[in-house]
Amino acid sequence: MKYKSAFDFDLKGKTVFLRADLNSSVVEGRVVISSRLREHSKTIYALSEEGAKVVVLSHQGRPGEEEFIGLKRHADHIRKFIDKPLKFVKWEDDYVSEIKAMKDGEVIVLDNARFQKEEQEKKTPEEHAEDGFIKKLGVLGDLFVQDALSVCHRGHATVVGFKKYMPCAVGPVLEKEIDALEKLEEQGNGSKLLVLGGAKLSDSVKLLSGMLENGMTNKVCVGGLFGELFLKAKGVDFGAKEEFFAKNEFADLVPEAKKLLEKYGDKIILPSDLGLEKNGKRAEEQVKNLPSKNTPMDIGIQTTEEFKRIVRESSLVVFNGPMGVYEKPQFAIGTKKVLEAIAFHRCFSIIGGGDTERALTSFGLLPQDFSHVSLAGKALLQYLSGIPLPGLEVLEKR
Ligand code: 3PG
Repeated sequence: MKYKSAFDFDLKGKTVFLRADLNSSVVEGRVVISSRLREHSKTIYALSEEGAKVVVLSHQGRPGEEEFIGLKRHADHIRKFIDKPLKFVKWEDDYVSEIKAMKDGEVIVLDNARFQKEEQEKKTPEEHAEDGFIKKLGVLGDLFVQDALSVCHRGHATVVGFKKYMPCAVGPVLEKEIDALEKLEEQGNGSKLLVLGGAKLSDSVKLLSGMLENGMTNKVCVGGLFGELFLKAKGVDFGAKEEFFAKNEFADLVPEAKKLLEKYGDKIILPSDLGLEKNGKRAEEQVKNLPSKNTPMDIGIQTTEEFKRIVRESSLVVFNGPMGVYEKPQFAIGTKKVLEAIAFHRCFSIIGGGDTERALTSFGLLPQDFSHVSLAGKALLQYLSGIPLPGLEVLEKR
């Protein structure tokens, strides 16, 4: 790995700021235990065992969303995993004194970094270094450790702001991600497939264009809302769902998708049929027979078989985002069968996206069925598209 690891430094008695990504699903106010929570807990444990004073920084949700909550419950989960002295500290508390009073091996989880208004402001690393809370923290720390690829595409204060104050190194969770991505880059000229789904569309069309341009992928199977975006760009009328499309970012992205199809139409494989919701049940429909008053919820059976065939022909597969609303069993078919095809086919595979990880678990698939299961989604695509990640740019090189 080209970056310095946290464990290249002497950690005993040092104050280490660990940027983790504890961002997890929240169901009825409860934080669902995620791989992110489990994996970053191992890093916290390892740093603490080395005698570091570990100050954990993370965000949860986005302002305005229901999932935009504090990190108290996350801290409780971590305490149970690592069984070490761990304190949850709010931004209203005297966090400077709390950190100064820490003993070797102790852990503090600071509250949601996005409760600080500067956290998400669009600024350079040098500008973020002057943010009030970064300045206060910066002078207290000996080492900054970035452990989450999933935040490295954000130039946020707690991701890039500490460079002025201390060396910045890589934590073990991020190290695993970078190792897998470096291996993927070494895979050579075989058939490189991207299976792209999910509902988070913004930026992804641009990232997809970058990946096609730099040869990181030479075939793309699109499903989920992504598939619908490209079908729309081809002029498909979605009937009942048109109103939904008109209301959000979808409409703005159609021209971009159209351009991409003009340039790379032979490389982007669109669904030929869809699984629609008809009176709560699944109904197959050929795309050529749309519009329909029923809503698309999954790729169709025929498309699923086609995507599986393409997976079998590929030497490398990156899967990012589900093919449909897999939480409802009748619409899980596309996501489940394509993931199984990747798992059981002998190819180099990276599975990304928070939702994808949940999908795996619900289908009884295991992380070891794939070459690597990434905890990142968008950041993974950005890495592959060749657009620099601000969070990686601040890290010390070996
Ligand atoms: C994620 O879940 O992808 C990361 O936590 C980043 O969250 P964000 O997209 O709100 O920045």
